[in-house]
Amino acid sequence: MGNTLDQKYVEACAWKPDIFKGKVAFITGGAGTICRVQTEALVLLGADAVILGRNQKKTEDAAAEIQKLRPGARVIGIGNVDVREVQSIAKAVEVTVKELGRIDFVIAGAAGNFLSDFNHLSSNAFKSVVSIDLLGSFNTVKACFNELKKSKGAILFVSATLHYYGVPFQSHVGAAKAGVDALSNALAVEFGPSGIRTNCIAPGAIANTEGMERLSPPGETSLDKRVPLQRLGTTQDIADATVFLFSPAASYITGTVQVVDGALWQVGSPMGNLYPGVMISQNEDNVSKL
Ligand code: COA
Repeated sequence: MGNTLDQKYVEACAWKPDIFKGKVAFITGGAGTICRVQTEALVLLGADAVILGRNQKKTEDAAAEIQKLRPGARVIGIGNVDVREVQSIAKAVEVTVKELGRIDFVIAGAAGNFLSDFNHLSSNAFKSVVSIDLLGSFNTVKACFNELKKSKGAILFVSATLHYYGVPFQSHVGAAKAGVDALSNALAVEFGPSGIRTNCIAPGAIANTEGMERLSPPGETSLDKRVPLQRLGTTQDIADATVFLFSPAASYITGTVQVVDGALWQVGSPMGNLYPGVMISQNEDNVSKL
């Protein structure tokens, strides 16, 4: 799974090779497919980085691999960090400042997801996803704020398009990501006078990602044909949008959501062809799981 970047990205991309020289990025969920490629792009283009995750080995291994992408790059993996605990992120911020000196870019990317209709979604399951996606995004910014203020840095939240309409089996994530968009908007206004920018990126159906594996509608084989641009997205599409939003080219862009989905959400829910039959069978259970 996953399609990682290498030096060819620097040769073929639209950006100056050292556009992020001297900058430091701090990424939650940085060992996951999408956030890993975001990190790779920033590192290939000159930044150093710290990636955080719950799984220590996965996070440290990913950091070691990303560090090899550019001679002289420093990439640190910090495991056992749960974004639901602000103190665990604050400790990682301390390590980042001690080792790399500063934080310029923050990606709040850690996310939890699974397909479940309301009837089978417990209160605790809803709380778990909202806590990882929304509270975790808040905690990430909370822990990084002082450093971002010093660097006049920028924040990127990883959002989604699920809450633009009603998507069955995704009430938990849709609610959380709607909150993430609202958080980003409010922080853009609060942080603007301090010179900190904050935006969201909303990936659509990105090929070879954990999200696609977890969330593809059952039996769906031709999602690419539904996408107006007639292909699934690539992790490089997300990397390019990330580089743009952190680059000086976006210095007047804050409080926005950059959708990167080939206009898929414009043609309606990916679950559309299963609806309403699939809901009728799910709702047949008379007792809703608490
Ligand atoms: N359907 C319904 N409920 C589910 C579920 C599913 N597929 N998977 C987990 N849950 C429920 C659990 O049953 C539990 O609820 P309960 O206590 O009422 O039984 C609740 O969610 C919490 O599960 P737990 O495994 O204890 O939580 P966690 O904090 O360890 O894990 C998750 C968080 C549930 C979001 C887990 O899917 C995860 O760790 N995901 C990380 C990776 C990820 O999702 N990436 C997203 C890429 S798009």
